[in-house]
Amino acid sequence: LRPVGILGTGSYLPEKIITNHDIEKMVDTSDEWIVTRTGIKERRIADKDTATSDLATKAALKALEDANVSAEEIDLIILATLTPDMLIPATACIVQNNIGAKNAAAFDLEAGCSGFIYSLTVGKQFIATGMYKKVLVIGAEVLSKFVDWSDRNTCVLFGDGAGAVVLGETKEGMGMLSEHMGANGEGGKFLNIPAGGSKIPLSVSSIEERLNYIKMDGSEVFKFAVRAMHKASLEALKLSGHDIEDIDYLVPHQANTRIINSAMKKLKLDIEKVYVNLDKVANTSAASVPIALDEAIKQGAIKKGDLVLLVGFGAGLTWGASVIRW
Ligand code: ACO
Repeated sequence: LRPVGILGTGSYLPEKIITNHDIEKMVDTSDEWIVTRTGIKERRIADKDTATSDLATKAALKALEDANVSAEEIDLIILATLTPDMLIPATACIVQNNIGAKNAAAFDLEAGCSGFIYSLTVGKQFIATGMYKKVLVIGAEVLSKFVDWSDRNTCVLFGDGAGAVVLGETKEGMGMLSEHMGANGEGGKFLNIPAGGSKIPLSVSSIEERLNYIKMDGSEVFKFAVRAMHKASLEALKLSGHDIEDIDYLVPHQANTRIINSAMKKLKLDIEKVYVNLDKVANTSAASVPIALDEAIKQGAIKKGDLVLLVGFGAGLTWGASVIRW
């Protein structure tokens, strides 16, 4: 199998900022509650005419430029999202057209907030086997259009954004060393958008019942998240032949600072080695890991030769981790 690495990264956040104080005017909450319970201070929100593909396209173009790879060289686009532009076509196909990747196959992958790590793992296989040379992996979300802005349990948590990476062949011993993915469908009920699919189609009554918005049992997701981040990290590390002490930098899914702190305590990893940007961007679901990764690289927190661990969890329930020699 060929060694596979990340050749370039890019991310894009919408300009509009919604602070906790703005949300205080919408629901019965406070900046103090949101900051102490989640670590979130503000989030970026797309305007009403902006779709997931628009954010994904901007992030993808930046990643291509960073990797010095042209759109025509891309063989496959995998786009992780739980907020696609529409049910069909796949948002990946819309991005393929936007960027002019005319030689690329394209599909969406839905694994909640683990979607980017799942997509990275899937994309890697095509290059490792030699079937493809360049794969564009994107995580993009416009969650603000699926959030019930009258539900204080969820509306404080999410934001919009996109991140992307270009995968290609690298040197032996470098790049993506190991991956782990897992799922437990029994926990699907703890985090879902009930209406809009084949089970409960959109209708006047499903919309009146607000079933077209994100529903979440926060405390169940919290408990699962800490366990999942710990388990996924250890599984990926074991496969890579490394221990947690070898990790130079960790980029986790950005859902809640208390989840990150608890998971890092369980892993015995110094929080100084962990990238956190959720105070500014909140939970951008499948976009969170690639946005954080791009920022960490551009800020110089991740350096050439570093051993990096990506880890996430999400709706499904799903989880995933990847160990990368940068
Ligand atoms: N402002 C004020 N009070 C609130 C708010 C709010 N925004 N939201 C909830 N509350 C209240 C509730 O009504 C409840 O009140 P009650 O006890 O009178 O019923 C109380 O606060 C809940 O308190 P806790 O259970 O102590 O809250 P907790 O510490 O569990 O924090 C939170 C809640 C932040 C949602 C937490 O559980 C969490 O982060 N869970 C994980 C969420 C997550 O990561 N989701 C994304 C998964 S990834 C994906 O795939 C999309």
